[in-house]
Amino acid sequence: MVSSSLRILELSKRYGDFVALAPTSLDVAKGEFLTLLGPSGSGKTTLLSLIAGLAHPDEGQILVDDADVTHSPAYDRDIGVVFQNYALFPHMTVEDNIAFPLKMRKVSDAEARRRTMEALETVRLPHVAKRFPRELSGGQQQRIALARCIVYRPAIILMDEPLGALDKKLRDQMQLEIKRIHRELRATIIYVTHDQEEAMTMSDRICLMNAGAIEQLGTPEDLYFRPRSMFVADFLGESNLLSATVRDVDAEGLDIVLADQAAPSRAVGNGSSFAAGEPIKIMVRPQNLHVVTAAADSGGLTGRLVDVMISGSLTRLYIAPETSGMPQLVAAYPTRSGSPPHEIGQLVSLGWNPADAVAIRDGGGH
Ligand SMILES: Nc1ncnc2c1ncn2[C@@H]1O[C@H](COP(=O)(O)OP(=O)(O)OP(=O)(O)O)[C@@H](O)[C@H]1O
Ligand SMILES: [Mg+2]
Repeated sequence: MVSSSLRILELSKRYGDFVALAPTSLDVAKGEFLTLLGPSGSGKTTLLSLIAGLAHPDEGQILVDDADVTHSPAYDRDIGVVFQNYALFPHMTVEDNIAFPLKMRKVSDAEARRRTMEALETVRLPHVAKRFPRELSGGQQQRIALARCIVYRPAIILMDEPLGALDKKLRDQMQLEIKRIHRELRATIIYVTHDQEEAMTMSDRICLMNAGAIEQLGTPEDLYFRPRSMFVADFLGESNLLSATVRDVDAEGLDIVLADQAAPSRAVGNGSSFAAGEPIKIMVRPQNLHVVTAAADSGGLTGRLVDVMISGSLTRLYIAPETSGMPQLVAAYPTRSGSPPHEIGQLVSLGWNPADAVAIRDGGGH
């Protein structure tokens, strides 16, 4: 099977006066696993529906392998679709459900049977061929929907929250299955979720959407460790955001001064250009915030430990900084006995490696 690449150029969609998708451009490489992530209403399904040909754009172009499919009907696009509630036909057996797209494409009965069984093997359910959908669990039905999509070997597969209805354990299993199928078929997958952990674990790249536009596009590491805006920093995992002012900018990073602190410190950039004097936020991820018992007048940032929460392998320390107006901070440590400080109310010093302090434009994003 040949994987396809997808190019989207200035694609937009309005409903009346409402902009569901602002002009958006995006390149998806052959065999890439790209996830559209974002809050409810940010335009994920809209973009996917336009690519699938289930909705029509107001402007822009969609190219598959350099061929313009913007105005092609959905069935002509070599694009497979798996939606959250993409129901199986209840009156058809599993094998008839899966063979259906092949019948539509006039594949011979013998060939259709062979490929149906192959698809059932791929989703690891060869024994349910003769059953009806109502005789399957939710997760099995979801896998059959996946089999019905991959059976005609589309070069591009679109999935809109395909695991949304499943419980956590089944979702984790299905994530692995989908990754395995992605590797085996070498298909290009565009996957929609609003679960940031799912996006981080599954994707080559994440396209984070906000209010009908791309907020940031990059690898999970890019978005997690180099967010371009407060929106991205906030959306992907926990973060500590501290107010600061830029003193100087050089090739390696920024000299900054934290609010209410006299001593300057360093931060790294995020790809944006910053100016001296600019008010910014400094992002430090919880696992990079170091908490030690404060020595008397140690200088630097100090706070009081207000809460300690153990959630499995991670222990979170919540700290109220002594600096007025500074929000509560959170530090995360691997759970083990002995360290770090854990007496509620005790005074602690806070620190981090300058390479883990990322400068973000204040009020950036939408
Ligand atoms: N047919 C429609 N008519 C009017 N507005 C629509 C239509 N379809 C979508 N919208 C609006 O466009 C915006 C984007 O919707 P979309 O379905 O793309 O969001 P989403 O990111 O998929 O959200 P969710 O995570 O909730 O599925 C929403 O505000 C939605 O109300
Ligand atoms: Mg949606």
